[in-house]
Amino acid sequence: MATVTSLIGLINKIQRACTLLGDHGGQGMSLWEILPSVAVVGGQSSGKSSVLESVVGRDFLPRGSGIVTRRPLVLQLHKTESGTEYAEFLHAPKKRFTDFVAVRKEIADETDRITGKTKQISNIPIHLSIYSPNVVNLTLIDLPGLTKVAVEGQSETIVEDIENMVRTYVEKPNCIILAISPANQDIATSDAIKLARDVDPSGERTFGVLTKLDLMDKGTNAVDVLEGRAYRLQHPWVGIVNRSQADINKNVDMILARRKEREYFETSPDYGHLASRMGSEYLAKLLSEHLELVIRQRIPSIIALINKTIDELNAELDRIGRPIATDGGAQLYMILELCRAFDRVFKEHLD
Ligand code: GDP
Ligand code: NA
Ligand code: MG
Repeated sequence: MATVTSLIGLINKIQRACTLLGDHGGQGMSLWEILPSVAVVGGQSSGKSSVLESVVGRDFLPRGSGIVTRRPLVLQLHKTESGTEYAEFLHAPKKRFTDFVAVRKEIADETDRITGKTKQISNIPIHLSIYSPNVVNLTLIDLPGLTKVAVEGQSETIVEDIENMVRTYVEKPNCIILAISPANQDIATSDAIKLARDVDPSGERTFGVLTKLDLMDKGTNAVDVLEGRAYRLQHPWVGIVNRSQADINKNVDMILARRKEREYFETSPDYGHLASRMGSEYLAKLLSEHLELVIRQRIPSIIALINKTIDELNAELDRIGRPIATDGGAQLYMILELCRAFDRVFKEHLD
């Protein structure tokens, strides 16, 4: 992911503060509750899984025509200090995956284990963690596509079932929505935009992503959408050219795909003037900047929590007496000192 260095530093500090607060009794909070998550929303085969992969910068998600994503995938990226990159599934905690082709296969197999090799959908999420020095701590959520009608082998209620499932993720105020619409369909009928507007009327946490620009009918273009005239969003629209099914079949890698995407925009007579604000890398950058902003906004509430902890620790120390030896009191005293240190660090970050 295209990262802002200060974002990594900031998240790491928050992570340490959370661990610290968590170590002290029950009032700690989880890093993942504070940090925003990013979810993809859109119609079936609109390119959701492809966009998510691009944002992470790794090939590991099952993609393809038809209903490929049939369970929510909750992907936690964990930044490590060093070492090799690996993945772990919650359902197979002892197994470390270093081969991302095997990760993709395991997602597909684990999907089938619950739903069978059918077109059915399950609400039960797959939890995947990726540990890497090259990521930011972040939760990304890949979701099944919204549909308009049930197909053979699906229940009658599938349309609402999927919408309700997607809704439970994107209605959370800390969820950033990547609303994916394919350029070869009318934007007015976009399910992604409809749902995003419903759960985020002000549009402050919605990013409009227009995929499949390369698949539009000859003689048409999406300039009206991309320039915000067809449908205005709070954040600017980003146009994307993901890998086609033929590219996927030929195993075109991410680096080549990004180069081709860049060339597409730079040489396009329609989009040339927008080239610097288009493409997967630009989307990753935009998202990263937005995340940093959102996380900075959370700092005051983290400081408040730290201060509350400091007060509680002081009260506890008053009760048991200030430490003289390496007993429980000494530990509390140490935590108190660390909390104060964090408080200073965060305040500096606010300036
Ligand atoms: P999802 O069902 O929304 O997760 O979509 P996928 O990412 O699985 O993509 C569905 C299909 O559309 C795959 O065959 C992709 O190769 C293809 N696809 C996605 N985005 C694009 C795009 O921008 N251009 C082209 N040509 N094909 C795309
Ligand atoms: Na698909
Ligand atoms: Mg998918």
